[in-house]
Amino acid sequence: MIFFKTIKNTFVLLATIFFCCGYSQEKYKEQFRPQFHFTPESKWMNDPNGMVYLNGTYHLFYQYYPDGIVWEPMHWAHSVSTDLLHWKPLPIALYPDKLGWIFSGSCVIDKENTAGFGANAMIAIFTYHNDEISKSGNKNTESQGIAYSLDEGLTWTKYDANPVLNNSGEQDFRDPKVFWHESTSKWIMTLAVGDRIKLFSSKNLKKWQFESEFKPDNDTKELGVWECPDLFSIKSNNGETKWVLIINHGEKAPNGGSGTRYFVGNFDGKTFQETQKDLWLDYGTDFYAGVTFSNVPNDKKILISWMSNWQYATKVPTEVWRSAMTLPRELILKKQGFYYALDQKIVDTFSTITTSTFNKKTVEMPFSKEVDLSQTEISFDVEKNTSTITIELSNKKGELFLIELSNGQLTTNRMKSGKIDFSETFASKVQKMPLSGAKITSFQLLMDKSSIEILLNDGRFSMTNLFFPKEDYSIISIKSKDKKKIKNLKINAVKSVWNKN
Ligand code: FRU
Repeated sequence: MIFFKTIKNTFVLLATIFFCCGYSQEKYKEQFRPQFHFTPESKWMNDPNGMVYLNGTYHLFYQYYPDGIVWEPMHWAHSVSTDLLHWKPLPIALYPDKLGWIFSGSCVIDKENTAGFGANAMIAIFTYHNDEISKSGNKNTESQGIAYSLDEGLTWTKYDANPVLNNSGEQDFRDPKVFWHESTSKWIMTLAVGDRIKLFSSKNLKKWQFESEFKPDNDTKELGVWECPDLFSIKSNNGETKWVLIINHGEKAPNGGSGTRYFVGNFDGKTFQETQKDLWLDYGTDFYAGVTFSNVPNDKKILISWMSNWQYATKVPTEVWRSAMTLPRELILKKQGFYYALDQKIVDTFSTITTSTFNKKTVEMPFSKEVDLSQTEISFDVEKNTSTITIELSNKKGELFLIELSNGQLTTNRMKSGKIDFSETFASKVQKMPLSGAKITSFQLLMDKSSIEILLNDGRFSMTNLFFPKEDYSIISIKSKDKKKIKNLKINAVKSVWNKN
């Protein structure tokens, strides 16, 4: 009897030590865990929120549920970085309160103390989502609140007279993105309201006045609920200053589910006027809720998107955490003919975490190589008039992610990429990106365990996708029906950004 008791006690003791010391799983090393993209250490994450730069530090807040890996009462979690790659977690910034859950929004630095909380206060403007009201069938569910921090985002105080912008009975009334408009000396808020954007202005972030609404003429597309807008001015490569309005759409993006489109136009302090047809920022299925940082030096526009899709975000096969952010991308406006388009360039600091494993000036196709593709950047140029290219990324289990350039479009196919059965829509279709007659000159592929970001022509075209192979991809093959070569093929290994944690 004593013998069995001793064995039992020893077992309980060992199990406790094992559990407490976290031996069960090394942090940030689980299957599918991205190694150079931002992920929360554990639990559910969706949209990036309140991204702001202050005194050498980039602050990333994000939609977070600390008690599970599905979408439930939303908080703003907080991480900081000096290079946009290595992130340090800080305490949760904003918790739900009696007015509601804390949905998406933005942060500004109140340099002139317009709100009276203190000069240089970091002020968060966010949506309260009241689930109780929502369940009662009343549409008056969402309003906007503010909170401030006087210690660079470490501790937060919610404004005691919240909400600062009350709902007028519209069910979806959310995701305030705020910026200081120099020439009218006012704060401007873009807000997603049903199937349009509403603009409000304020002198002090506390009292808001309706200015105008934006819904393009003949915008016949049914694009679900509009979400997470972002309006900013940006200098184009020809020296002109234009305004860009980014809008995220919950459904019916070109390849299904959620996606991000943008308009280029003018803004006079009251009204945004589009001056050209809408464009999509990314044609993959895993690029959503993208918005830019505020207060970045030299007025750089740096965007981060949530790398998932509402069609299956709550089902993807990870257990400790759910979902990742895209790499931060600098947006660059270029004029081509009469048209303006945004190029997306991975932030410069990225080159500090890459090391070359293969580099060749001229490569004959077909080309095939066994190489670790789990954390890898691959880039190459294509010869003039190359109209077909097939890139296969695969492993020894025969799992395969396929990229094809042909018939003036780029397609990606993840039907055999690994685990796909967690959702009916995840791999039901080939994904297509029209190239609008553009000649393709270069490819950049960024692969990180369970994701790929594909950028063509220096970021003019972008496609972001997830995949879940049972073992890491380890073979790349590139071929073409044209009798062409590829140039400057570079394969770089990318270091993990979590090693220091
Ligand atoms: C976009 C979104 C936002 C909302 C948040 C809730 O993904 O639906 O509109 O504020 O997520 O978590």
